[in-house]
Order: sequence, then C-alpha cells, then structure tokens
Amino acid sequence: MAYSKWIRNYGLISAAGISLLLGLYSTSAVSAEEEPIAYIGHGAFFDARGKQIEPTMEFLQKAERWYEKKLLSTNAKSAEFEGKAREVTRGLDLSPYERLFARQAVLSWMASNSALEGVAGETLGKLRALEYRMRRTLSQKGMKALFNTGGGPVNLQLLSRIDALPRAKASAMKSLMAGEAAAGVREGKDYVDDCAAAGVPIPPPIGRMAAPGVEGWKVEGMLPTASQFIVGTPAELRSYENSQGMCYALPRYEDESMSQVSLDGVVCLSKTTGKSCFWDNQMNKLGFPFAPGTVIPIGYPDLAVNSDGLYQAGGAELEQGSGGVCTSCHAGENPFIVHPKLELRPGFTWGRLQNSMPAFAPVRFTPMVPASWPQNEASAPDDMVLAACAGCHSPDGEKGRLPALSPALRGYCFTILPQALEKTMPPNKPGSQADTADVRAYIALCGPPPPPEDGK
Ligand code: HEC
Ligand code: HEC
Repeated sequence: MAYSKWIRNYGLISAAGISLLLGLYSTSAVSAEEEPIAYIGHGAFFDARGKQIEPTMEFLQKAERWYEKKLLSTNAKSAEFEGKAREVTRGLDLSPYERLFARQAVLSWMASNSALEGVAGETLGKLRALEYRMRRTLSQKGMKALFNTGGGPVNLQLLSRIDALPRAKASAMKSLMAGEAAAGVREGKDYVDDCAAAGVPIPPPIGRMAAPGVEGWKVEGMLPTASQFIVGTPAELRSYENSQGMCYALPRYEDESMSQVSLDGVVCLSKTTGKSCFWDNQMNKLGFPFAPGTVIPIGYPDLAVNSDGLYQAGGAELEQGSGGVCTSCHAGENPFIVHPKLELRPGFTWGRLQNSMPAFAPVRFTPMVPASWPQNEASAPDDMVLAACAGCHSPDGEKGRLPALSPALRGYCFTILPQALEKTMPPNKPGSQADTADVRAYIALCGPPPPPEDGK
C-alpha cells in the first residue's frame, strides 16, 4: 500500500530521526519492544503503523506478557498478580487459551482496581479490549460445544471466578488516575439529558425497529466485509432520524454465522448545534455480546425495556473502555465515516442515503466525549486543503472539511485516511492520490511515523 511505502521512504530519508525514536524506545524501562497495541476500535487491535492485528494465540500471549512486564513493576505487585492468577485457576483443568485468559482478566482486574505503574491514558481500554476479545472467543466455543458443533468445553467455573472478583466502582477509580484530565462529560441518564439539552437526538433502544406506530431504527443495509476499513465481519448500518437530527448504529456480528452481535456503537448528530453523542455496548467499561434482536436501552438500565439490566454506556462511562477512543477515528466535519459509493442495497448508495438525511450541521461537529479524548477543535488549515480533494472537502465544498491532523488523531491518521486514500477517495478514482506531495504534507501533521517493523 502506498502509505506504508511512504513510511518506509520516510525511514530512508530520515534515518537519524528514526534512530532517535528507537533510542527513546530502548531507554524505556519496559524493553526495546514496541507496545503491541497502538490503538483499538470496534473490537479490533492496531499496531503503530495502523495495521489491523489478527488476535492469534501468539499475539495474545505476547501482548499479555508485555503489559504484565510494564504494569507489574515491583515484586509486591508481581506476587499479588501471581497469587490472584493461582486463586482463579486453582484445581481447574484448563486449556492454554483459558490459562492465558485468566492471566489477562486478572491483569485488567488489577489495573482497574489499584494504582499500577503506567496505567494511564488508553492502557486500561486496551487491557479491557484484550479481555473482551478472549471472552468472546470462549463464549463462542462454549456455544458450539453446547450445540455439538465442535469447539470443546469451556470452563465455566473459571469465568464465574473471574466475574466474582470484587470490582471497584469506576467512579472510585477516578481519584487513582493521577494526572488524568477530569472527565468533561457526565454519564448514564445525566449524559442522555445533557445530549438532549444540546439538541442531539436520543435514539430508540438498540434493536427496536421502526414499524407502523413504532419509533425505531431503520435497516439501511449490510456493509460488505471487503469494503470495510476495519474489522471485516458482517456489519449492518441502521439509521434513526427525528426533528433534531440523525443517528447511526452499526451492529457488528462476531462472525459469518451472525448468531451474536459483539460490537454495536451509536453516533448521533444534532442538525442545528452540531453537537454529537456516542454510545457503545459496554457496561462497566467492558463490551458485552448479545443475541440479534435484543432490545437494549440507551445510556442507562431500564428494566421495563431490558429485564437483564443491559444498557449502552455513553459519555464519561466510555473513557478507557474496551471500545476505544471513538473520536480518534470519528473526526472531521461530521462524526460519520462514510464510503459514499458503497451500495447499501441494489441501486442505493451510502452517499445517496447521506444526501437524504441531515448528515451535516451548519458547523463542524463538537463531540460530547471525555476531556481526555480528541475534541475535533479544528479543520485542516486552508493551505493544507489538498487540491484533488478541495472540490468536496473545503469550506466551499459540500462534503465537509477534513480534520486538522495531530498525533492524538492516531486512528484517523493511520487507519481512516490511508484506507480512504486507497479504497474510496477521490470517489471517481480511488487510490490515485494516495502518495502525492500534498498528501504527504498533510499526513506529516500526524507527527513522525512510527519506526518500520523489524526487517521490513
Ligand atoms: C480505529 C478507528 C475507529 C474507532 C476508534 C471507532 N470507530 Fe466507529 N467506525 C470506524 C470506521 C472505519 C467505520 C466505517 C465502517 C468501516 O469501514 O469499517 C465506523 C463506523 C461507525 C458507525 C456507523 C456510522 C459511521 O460513522 O459510519 C458507528 C455508529 C460507529 N462507528 C460508532 C463508534 C463508536 C461509538 C466508537 C467508540 C466507542 C467508535 N465507533 C470508535 C472506525 C472507528
Ligand atoms: C467528488 C467529491 C469528493 C472528492 C473530490 C473527495 N471526496 Fe472524500 N468524501 C466525499 C464524500 C461524499 C464523503 C462522505 C462524507 C459524508 O457523507 O460524511 C467523503 C468522505 C471522505 C473520508 C472519510 C471520512 C468521512 O468524513 O466520511 C475521507 C478520509 C476522505 N473523504 C478523504 C478525501 C481525500 C483525502 C480526498 C482527496 C484525495 C477526497 N476525499 C476527495 C467526497 C469527495
């Protein structure tokens, strides 16, 4: 891909800069080894070059060991960790995957409940995403075993022991997060109220579909797996519109069988104020899978809607959660990431759907998200508007200005923009602008590219 070629070229041009970077890496207490996960999103893991990582056993092992080494810096902490790991696995006959899951879950549990070295920023979110990934694999295996389609037994005792570990309330942890910016938004019902007061539409519960006399979501179509920028499992685009604006939901299924939804983010935009709100299928910062059709209230539990107490977390509750930093990828004029030429259903493109809805506010959108997340404060400076893109993405263009890039927008810098340049943009000739001088100057705002992978 042209963009990674650019990274390699940069490596050649600026060997000095790279070795400086490598030098910084190797002086860190952890090891010269690069952090295995640079950022996360929609349940997927990305390396520093924006490449999506396949969560193989080998990768999961490497990641667990890396975070263990980084976080358990004292003998006392290591001993506490090993003790807990022994406690939850004692007397159980476990597969290597289950053993690894136990260590990962105990590590995220410790990081969530006590002050550990280096647990800041997005580290907790990454640990939780690893735990959620492994939980899903185990639950799929369990389902398959239950229905006799292979997969082998899963040790339910292990899961129940881990779930029984005493958990501190997320709010009690805030005081432990020294140096962390105070949350700029509220959570639960307060967040829903704040969004409503800011003119943002509050969508119906997840899974409540529009029908005569019922306010609900509308199915727009499936995003073909090959056209997705990330994840690559079946995903369905749903929309909701009312007098205040519009929302999208994107239920992503675990696999082709479509028997389980594992990710289901929601993004809403006010058509008047440009304020935008985010919800995700997380509770207590950890994602949860659910059966298709499950009705789940937005923001806070409502037993009349879901008697199991499930809900979609939003606002401050998403900070350091397993779903990642939404606004690291969802940036620009509007909060949506759209492939305009993709056919949602025969003869009907996503671009046409966008044109039929209030997809842009009169102003660049303002996300109502934790203060530690990118806040989408600025658009690309005028002298950075790429000539080949200006017809649409400029102050006069109709498709919205691109964001001002910065190192904090890692997801946009290393996933969204490179993938768009390769697969969807400019719409009449995708790929044609992937490696121009203009584009290189714009992407340089992301900061120096990460060092190239070993041996490449
Ligand atoms: C690593 C980048 C990344 C992160 C982080 C991310 N997303 Fe997305 N999101 C995408 C991409 C890319 C798409 C478009 C579908 C595709 O190409 O895979 C998308 C699409 C969506 C959609 C469908 C509407 C649209 O904009 O296309 C929703 C809803 C959504 N994301 C919600 C969320 C929420 C909520 C979060 C945070 C909990 C989040 N996303 C975090 C990359 C990301
Ligand atoms: C003919 C018009 C047109 C041109 C030219 C064009 N784009 Fe787009 N672009 C679009 C449309 C339409 C969308 C979907 C925007 C929406 O509805 O939110 C889009 C979306 C994007 C997105 C996805 C994120 C998002 O906001 O949905 C990126 C990134 C992007 N364009 C980059 C570029 C770049 C870089 C260029 C120049 C190389 C370019 N585009 C040229 C029309 C254009």
